[in-house]
Amino acid sequence: MLAGQTAIITGGAQGIGAETAIIFAREGCKVIIADIDAAKADKTAQVINSEGGAAIAVVGDITRNEDISNLVQKAIEFGGGKLHIIVNNAGYAWDDPIEMIQDKQWDTIISLHNTAPFKLIRAAAPYFMVKDGEPRSIINVSSTSGIYGNAGQASYALAKAGLVGLTKTVAQEWGPEYGVRANTVAFGAIKTRLTQAPSGEFVVRPDGTKHAVGFHGGYDEEEKWVGDIPLRRIGTPTDAGRAILAMVSPLFSYVTGQVSQAIICGEKILTAGFLDTHGKAKSKRS
Ligand SMILES: NC(=O)c1ccc[n+]([C@@H]2O[C@H](COP(=O)([O-])OP(=O)(O)OC[C@H]3O[C@@H](n4cnc5c(N)ncnc54)[C@H](O)[C@@H]3O)[C@@H](O)[C@H]2O)c1
Repeated sequence: MLAGQTAIITGGAQGIGAETAIIFAREGCKVIIADIDAAKADKTAQVINSEGGAAIAVVGDITRNEDISNLVQKAIEFGGGKLHIIVNNAGYAWDDPIEMIQDKQWDTIISLHNTAPFKLIRAAAPYFMVKDGEPRSIINVSSTSGIYGNAGQASYALAKAGLVGLTKTVAQEWGPEYGVRANTVAFGAIKTRLTQAPSGEFVVRPDGTKHAVGFHGGYDEEEKWVGDIPLRRIGTPTDAGRAILAMVSPLFSYVTGQVSQAIICGEKILTAGFLDTHGKAKSKRS
């Protein structure tokens, strides 16, 4: 479905981004794995290349201007002068109750989920504002926290909601003349290292410090959550990657400016929020 196309997938080293990259490559797309984690980015690119796909890893921090420029340049070289798809997927949350959130925490999350996707789209503008008759599509990965809010996630919820406005604006600016489609996919519950019990995994913040990911009581305790999920199971990264593929595929050629709440979990879960379910945030407040 994506033969002849080239895609940048940020946060493509693991989790949802890696599965999306693998699934895109199986559909004939050249993929650029853009991630801050060099070892995992290389590994995912190797997996794709070893099964006959075409991938490169471009290591960098998506919140740094120079890394964004380098990413677009490498993508264009790999794509033979063209770029068709951007999936803005890199991210994590840094949760706390509102009254405890520090400026650094706030700025980090907004910069990662809003400013970085905007800057990447802006840097890639010359390759999207073209009239060559080929499909072009931008996907911003949001969250049901951005649609319903989520206690303990003020910064993340605001940032993920912000992506919806950015996406609709891209659809309106680049749709009429260039036929570029832009859509948001807002995930509910997908089992990745972010949403399972901490296992020593971390992400590197822009200042170089390490941020542990995962939370106790997460989706590995599946039975706790599934009652509020219409399909009665936690989604897998493969489910998530397929939803993104659907959005960029020719089957959705007339769909733009939309928010797909893929693998939605019930609103009940979200209004319960992480202050109740996220042990760390709860104990910090009390
Ligand atoms: N897992 C879920 O249930 C869920 C639900 C809703 C939304 N999301 C969103 O989906 C996206 C992917 O999450 P995931 O669960 O696959 O997480 P993940 O941790 O498995 O993957 C995220 C990737 O982003 C990379 N990354 C983080 N900061 C970066 C930076 N500054 N520059 C470059 N790369 C960076 C990480 O190294 C990692 O490889 C995120 O935007 C997340 O907020 C996830």
